[in-house]
Amino acid sequence: MVKVAIMGHGVVGSGVTEVLIHNHDSIAEKAADSIEIKYVLDLRPVEGPLADRWITDFATIENDDEVSIVVETMGGLKPAYDFVKRCLSAGKSVVTSNKELVAAKGVELLNIARERNLNFMFEASVGGGIPIIRPIQQCLAGNHILEIRGILNGTTNYILTSMVKNGVPFDDALAKAQQLGYAERDPSADIDGLDACRKICILASLAYGRHVYPEQVYTEGIRNITLDDVKMAEKLGYVIKLIGRSVKLTDNSITATVYPALVPQSDLLSNVDDVFNAIMVRGDAIGDAVFYGRGAGKLPTASAVVADVIDCVKHVTARKYMSWEDGFDGYVVDHNCDCTRLFVVTDTQFADKVSESFSDCETVTDGERLAFITDIGKFGALTEKIKQSGIETKAVYNVLY
Ligand code: HSE
Repeated sequence: MVKVAIMGHGVVGSGVTEVLIHNHDSIAEKAADSIEIKYVLDLRPVEGPLADRWITDFATIENDDEVSIVVETMGGLKPAYDFVKRCLSAGKSVVTSNKELVAAKGVELLNIARERNLNFMFEASVGGGIPIIRPIQQCLAGNHILEIRGILNGTTNYILTSMVKNGVPFDDALAKAQQLGYAERDPSADIDGLDACRKICILASLAYGRHVYPEQVYTEGIRNITLDDVKMAEKLGYVIKLIGRSVKLTDNSITATVYPALVPQSDLLSNVDDVFNAIMVRGDAIGDAVFYGRGAGKLPTASAVVADVIDCVKHVTARKYMSWEDGFDGYVVDHNCDCTRLFVVTDTQFADKVSESFSDCETVTDGERLAFITDIGKFGALTEKIKQSGIETKAVYNVLY
């Protein structure tokens, strides 16, 4: 019998206990051992069948040698980072859904786990229930990964879908997303792109073998998108989506970005709606593979956590190999040097300046506003060219190509 402790009994943690109890027998068959929850750590009392396992003192878990696997579903860095480190130091494997923790401290925690022949797993940290960590790490191991791009945040995708499909203004769409419980406690983590930033950090670290820190990622959220921008983009055949993207460059540096981008209506990602996530991974052998599904929510996320717990049980003595090296300054190129195309919204009074400086670009107008898409160039050079041309912009977006 394997004894497990759960730290954090919120949405995801309670989903994990529910799945472990409800599917106990089939999980035991797959793990070739029975998995029992010994403790549930939370400040709030735990009700129901696990009420007698509720504890508030972390040291109880740390000092109990019977507990071999700890599930961390508290979120945030404090106290999760300290607790997870102490669990690993005490010889316990850790499974987490905490993207903030993995994005900020992944390389350090993986190193501690490796030194102690333990597992540190985080399938649920990206894409909720969508299998993506294991596929990149195992199934696509024969490839050089060239690019990852995706819709990594369900809340913002719900908001943008409401704006694009139903013409709901941003503030109303956000209020509805909060009402439906999609947004995290602090909605800014979603709408300012931080959540997607942490996820692209994890994916890029895993795919390219070096840690990418959130501070290295150019990150823009969706607060400033207007219905007018959405309509102008649509006229040119595009949909606005919040895209996390990381590309491997020929000199072994990478790009890593999160921004609202124009996605061609012909692209698969443009049809990923509501709270769904989709992640495209491009490998040199497989080409493009797309992973799609529910990127958030109690049971979908619990599904990924429980799969990791089962994997830990099956790899108690032979650790699963997963690690990457630390990153370095300059590994992620400055966004100004990224190659991109820009969608520029301006006023019709600048039509002449647009045709002078961007003569080959397709333009569209709604009578008052004029929009165009530039050719490919470096982000910094393109924005400088727009500035030099004297065009006053109302909005500028990257275009996915
Ligand atoms: N707030 C996140 C989202 C939850 O909306 O995608 C999953 O990380």
